[in-house]
Amino acid sequence: MPVTVRSFAKINLGLRIGAARDDGFHELLTVYQTIGLHDLVKVGIERGTGIEIHCADPRVPTDESNTCFRTAQSTLRALGLKGRVVIEIDKRLPIQGGLGGASANAVAVLLGLELASKKSLGATERLAIAADVGSDLPLFLVGGAVLGVGRGEQVYPLPDLPATACVVVTPAVGVSTPRAFAEWDRRQKLTLPAPSDRMLEFGRAVSAWLSARFYSGAPRRRGQAENPLLDFVRAGIDNDFERVVFHEYPELCEGKRALIDAGAEYASLSGSGSAVYGLFASPPAARRAAARLGKQGWTAHITVTLGRGRYWRRIFDC
Ligand code: C5P
Repeated sequence: MPVTVRSFAKINLGLRIGAARDDGFHELLTVYQTIGLHDLVKVGIERGTGIEIHCADPRVPTDESNTCFRTAQSTLRALGLKGRVVIEIDKRLPIQGGLGGASANAVAVLLGLELASKKSLGATERLAIAADVGSDLPLFLVGGAVLGVGRGEQVYPLPDLPATACVVVTPAVGVSTPRAFAEWDRRQKLTLPAPSDRMLEFGRAVSAWLSARFYSGAPRRRGQAENPLLDFVRAGIDNDFERVVFHEYPELCEGKRALIDAGAEYASLSGSGSAVYGLFASPPAARRAAARLGKQGWTAHITVTLGRGRYWRRIFDC
């Protein structure tokens, strides 16, 4: 029996790019947060051999270059399975949007194959397959708020944050992540402070925020929000990719500004873009903002941040 999996998107609550490594990747420090926007991925195992990918959106590759393909290959091998894998992707998330859509699809294939075959991998094996396919996959094996280090593939669950209203603006352009990293490297040499200082700064902000959450002795500070997620992002968490991507695509910077003008408590580029998101104090505030952005010609989606519990409850509940 084929199974259908919701493949939820993520946003990045801040992202720092560190040193370029010998393996061609960059050190990274980020907090991923899963959100309610999703694709649907149907996975079946039939008689025969091979991997078939079907998607109505012609921009989605259906050959080995799709991350779902390599993930299916590795998962079949790890589970000791034979058969023809048929994957159908109902694409709703933007392509090259910085929302982890392709990576989430691949993790949905991994989980779907386990469920369809009634066989299970160990957590370590699952994470190893995911990390091998791409830096952005393992976060989807944790869900909720997730600290990402290394090249982004080393993932650590953070305490669950309250569901927070979110509006995602998806401009028509796609941004190539490798190109954004290359542009970062070019500018790094010219203008920016040492990567180690910037990583340290972000690490301190995350630690301070975590320790403040668990230290309940002090009275609430002035200006401190009811919502710890908003406290965190207001502590000066930003996304390094904005420095290079906004330069090349000024309309994305305009999208961020439009979100703030529409009442967002915080707005940022997600990953290397092109999506920009805003976090709002309440669902009605998000709805008003999305309506206003729509009138201005932006494609704006209302959603909510997904805590770990909700993420895992809803993933197979299709
Ligand atoms: O891991 P993933 O396949 O998503 O990475 C795509 C490309 O993005 C890499 O080949 C590399 O050029 C760049 N990248 C990087 N540093 C990271 C993650 C990705 O330079 N931490």
